[in-house]
Amino acid sequence: PVIYAITPTYYRLVQRAELTRISQTLRLIPNIHWIVIEDSEEKTNLVSKLLEESELTVTHLNAKTPPFEKLKDKEPSWKKHRGVEQRNAALSWLRENLTVGNQKGIVYFMDDDNSYHLNLFSEIRKVKRVGTWPVGLVGGLNVEAPILDPKTGKVKSYRSGWKPNRPFAIDMAGFAINLDLILTKKEATFSYKMERGWQESEFLSFFTTKEELEPLADNCTKVYVWHTRTEKPVVRGLVKGFEV
Ligand code: UGA
Ligand code: MN
Repeated sequence: PVIYAITPTYYRLVQRAELTRISQTLRLIPNIHWIVIEDSEEKTNLVSKLLEESELTVTHLNAKTPPFEKLKDKEPSWKKHRGVEQRNAALSWLRENLTVGNQKGIVYFMDDDNSYHLNLFSEIRKVKRVGTWPVGLVGGLNVEAPILDPKTGKVKSYRSGWKPNRPFAIDMAGFAINLDLILTKKEATFSYKMERGWQESEFLSFFTTKEELEPLADNCTKVYVWHTRTEKPVVRGLVKGFEV
């Protein structure tokens, strides 16, 4: 099957470094279709050039996150959802350009700042409907991981730093979904109406139940993806003439 890797991205000083790391990981993987969605009014030269030079099979889109509305006067400025607009643009692209039953594929949300082990992609290729695995360095824990019922081998609960009782207490990097399921369930999208921290759980609820999840990465004992976050560099001067 082809892995459709969906990567939202936005401009900041480390963008080219992040996308270089991801693209060069993907270069080592066969049968990847990389969908990169810029959070911008227009496609930028920086990303266009990087994608061209990557020699990967790529779809380049852009979808700007709308300036977000404050709900009520006194409400604290709540942190906005990230990647909503961009992932939805990628879902629309898949649904408009691919046909159910026409190709075997698996969809994976691959944020631009995480770190990915090559083994992850062999695990993703095992997904039949919806697969899951541990994610390192996330949610205030060294690892978040599904807990399996030793009798059935199915997911029973989650070890998660935040609301482990969510129906799916899984980070965006910890699951992948069969392409035909994505194409069939057209109503499944991300939304600003979802509570913060509930995007993954709400999205997964369109497709599956906890009991139906397919535990991968050696029964969810191995860590093949890390929720790393790049420190914002302190830059005191901009040297002209360099594309960094
Ligand atoms: C966590 C999850 O791992 C994300 O998948 C989830 O989207 C996010 O929380 C959330 O709160 O919604 P976190 O490291 O906080 O991750 O998020 P980022 O890595 O900053 O953003 C997720 C993706 O959206 C990245 O690929 C990033 O490049 C992109 N993004 C971020 C934009 O396109 N625009 C932005 O303004 C910010
Ligand atoms: Mn991140």
